[in-house]
Amino acid sequence: MITTTAPGKIILLGEHAVVYGQPALAVPLGALQTQCMVDFLPENGENTADSVLIEAPDIGLSTRLGLLLRDQPTHPLAAVIQATFRALGVSAPRPMRIHVTSSIPVASGLGSGAAVSVAMIRGIAEAYQHHLDNEQVNELAYEIEKLHHGTPSGVDNTVITHNRPVYFVREQPIQTLHARHPFTVVIADTGVAALTRESVGDVRKLWQADPARWEAVFEQVGELVRAARDIIESGETASLGPIMDTNHALLQEMTVSSPALDHLVVAAKKAGAEGAKLSGGGRGGNMIALVNPKKAEKVAAALKKAGATHVMISQVG
Ligand code: PMV
Repeated sequence: MITTTAPGKIILLGEHAVVYGQPALAVPLGALQTQCMVDFLPENGENTADSVLIEAPDIGLSTRLGLLLRDQPTHPLAAVIQATFRALGVSAPRPMRIHVTSSIPVASGLGSGAAVSVAMIRGIAEAYQHHLDNEQVNELAYEIEKLHHGTPSGVDNTVITHNRPVYFVREQPIQTLHARHPFTVVIADTGVAALTRESVGDVRKLWQADPARWEAVFEQVGELVRAARDIIESGETASLGPIMDTNHALLQEMTVSSPALDHLVVAAKKAGAEGAKLSGGGRGGNMIALVNPKKAEKVAAALKKAGATHVMISQVG
């Protein structure tokens, strides 16, 4: 039996503008994991899509690839398996069982879709004793992201495939973000599931209606991200808080915040966070607050009290 894992991720700064070529900072979240177990089953003389069992108990799925393709031809899990088979040159799959579990909440900006793809691609490849390098895994996962998101920047699949903090610019080689000193963040979930595809689509409509205005906003986000990278790499993380606040204001302007996100951002700041913003696609999902480690528990408690359904404290760097 082959077991592979992939972490969750959180975007520190730069979401949405990253779709338009601006940089974003994102880090893996090892406390959240997707696990994929793959084993071959006894040969039954039938090497077809129906020989492949898919089990994803978290979403109540237990089926065969062939059936899934007939019922829901665009199902992302079926797409991952098919894309991986194509990359491996597998046209007649051996009987196998692919079992996926994940502690990453879905539709909440923590990279669950990309983590499932990365863990499954690696699990299937390893079962077939093929080595796919990170770039190949990343490219395949990006293909699947396009099904989830429409026009993804590729930040999710990149940070999750490489499992390291990144300064990400669309269609450019990966650059690692080196935090000189670790810093502490509190991540809190509004409990509202929100589809990144929708918020990305809405920002696109704004941009199409007035490209000059929105490109200026994206450029401002890019400047914040470049400044934040210098700050993180030089270790002066105290000045990161105001940058996060400004980024949140720009995301509000892009219409991707929500009352629940704004409420948690305000609660974090009132409890002493140095900066706070939504993270990911927005409209729901998670927010992130920068905190002095001594205040982390207090901010986490305030976020719970303000209605967050899940709160975690994490170290970056
Ligand atoms: O998957 P999420 O919700 O973390 O969003 C990804 C970040 C966006 O910038 C909103 C979209 C993208 O493709 O980069």
